[in-house]
Amino acid sequence: MQNVHVNLGARSYDILIDTNLIENSVQHIQDLLSRPKVAIVTDANVAELHLKPLQSALDAAGIAQSALVLPAGETTKSWAPFSQTVEWLLDQKIERKDIVIALGGGVIGDLVGFAAAVLRRGVRFVQMPTSLLAQVDSSVGGKTGINAPQGKNLIGAFHQPSRVLIDISALDTLTPRDFLAGYGEVVKYGLLGNAPFFDWLEINGPKLAQGDKVARAEAVRISCQMKADIVERDETEQGDRALLNLGHTFCHALEAATGYSDRLFHGEGVAIGCALAFETSARLGLCSQEDPSRVRAHLRDMGMKVDLKDISGDLPNADVLLDLMSQDKKVVDGTLNFIMAKGIGNAFVTSDVPRDIVHRVLSDALADCGSV
Ligand code: GLY
Repeated sequence: MQNVHVNLGARSYDILIDTNLIENSVQHIQDLLSRPKVAIVTDANVAELHLKPLQSALDAAGIAQSALVLPAGETTKSWAPFSQTVEWLLDQKIERKDIVIALGGGVIGDLVGFAAAVLRRGVRFVQMPTSLLAQVDSSVGGKTGINAPQGKNLIGAFHQPSRVLIDISALDTLTPRDFLAGYGEVVKYGLLGNAPFFDWLEINGPKLAQGDKVARAEAVRISCQMKADIVERDETEQGDRALLNLGHTFCHALEAATGYSDRLFHGEGVAIGCALAFETSARLGLCSQEDPSRVRAHLRDMGMKVDLKDISGDLPNADVLLDLMSQDKKVVDGTLNFIMAKGIGNAFVTSDVPRDIVHRVLSDALADCGSV
């Protein structure tokens, strides 16, 4: 069992990382319960794989439980499923001191966290993330919310979980594509602030993809530790926390351009976005030309999407992509903040990136895939 502590004063919590943690969860949540009762919210795909073991463990311990199973997919992160969840939790008579369990990937974690934030002005919740992306990113740090027609994650609240239980065994149930999409967020940590971790991933990445549980637990621990360190410094993203958005400004434009569809998963967009951020950094003379090549080589070795040409179908031109980037919610007073890098493991936040350089990076990447 690995334990990463997130030190946020009264909002501090532990992230526990181990195999078979869902079926062994009771001993790790019992101290949080004011009475033997929990409510679980999950989605249909996750329920099929992981709900029964959790329910059996709770039943065996005499803890009353009820479960709400929502449809799987990003559309669940919207007002109607959100109000359904809040009202269901009220019907279950969940009180302030009770615990709500978010069992699932990023959609469930974000939605349930937000429901917990507003229910009775705030109830406690436990994250049990089942996707790699949720384990290394969205379940940690307290960003919760839903999407609006105007954009992703535009409605929400900071609400820290009371505990995060990361079951490494749950990763065995992911498709290779889902696992690698989550790996995009793992690589991001090495690139933004931990060069030795990136070196380690270059060696151990293939082992992770093949299912090595020790290597997987280590990669998740380091990622969570890095995220915890950043969130402790800047819980509400006034400064350093923006480093976690490395690759995301490019990614959000690509996700919007592909209609948030199966053409591009979020973590795939993050990986491509990291490669583009390093390319832009190199063109600005911030890092060496070898750095973007090394980033791309590692993503390629892992069998991931690296370039715009790896996205199926047509993409809009560089002007449209740039406009989509300008709609990013990190725009402040009309200025786009970028995460650039002075090298692998050395990212920083800047608004000082000329539009024409980004335009050229995008145009070259589009020319490479035959689009203009
Ligand atoms: N996913 C970025 C953050 O939690 O700040």
